[in-house]
Amino acid sequence: MILPIYTYGQGVLRKETEEIDESYENLKQLIADMFETLRKAEGVGLAAPQVGLPIRVMVVDLDAVSDDMPEFKGYLKAYINPYIEETDGELVPYEEGCLSFPGIHEKVNRPSKVRVSWVDEDFNEHDEWFEGFPARVMQHEIDHLDGKCFIDRMSPLRRQMNKKALSNIAAGKFNCDYKVKINRK
Ligand code: NI
Repeated sequence: MILPIYTYGQGVLRKETEEIDESYENLKQLIADMFETLRKAEGVGLAAPQVGLPIRVMVVDLDAVSDDMPEFKGYLKAYINPYIEETDGELVPYEEGCLSFPGIHEKVNRPSKVRVSWVDEDFNEHDEWFEGFPARVMQHEIDHLDGKCFIDRMSPLRRQMNKKALSNIAAGKFNCDYKVKINRK
């Protein structure tokens, strides 16, 4: 089932999320729905707050970019209760977008390597280093689980330059090709 994506201005994007455990109902269905929603919206990552749920769950679909980056063929992963344990490497600028911010694309600096702990959908524990594009996506999505968005990482100047676009999104004045849940005041 395709879920509506919550866009900038909705409180859930700024909420602290809660960890889940094995008693969380219908987790596999939620993950399947998040993958379907992400694919339809042509993104590479989706965090649960973006579908209105303040829980520590996210999905990453790098298979979606495997025409350009064949090493990611079949890369479809769900991360439950992920945390950034440490970072390494240089701060690297890279242009990011976010399904909760239709039309906004800006360079954001992030460390090139990141160590993440998480459990998978069967609650097996993992702890791995990521680098390159996956490191970028992991940091962007885990930010969502901490109530942060990529605009918080932009330079003050770039944020200022996007001020109008941001207020339009918050007011529900934007177009995009996927289903959204917007604020209508
Ligand atoms: Ni995002």
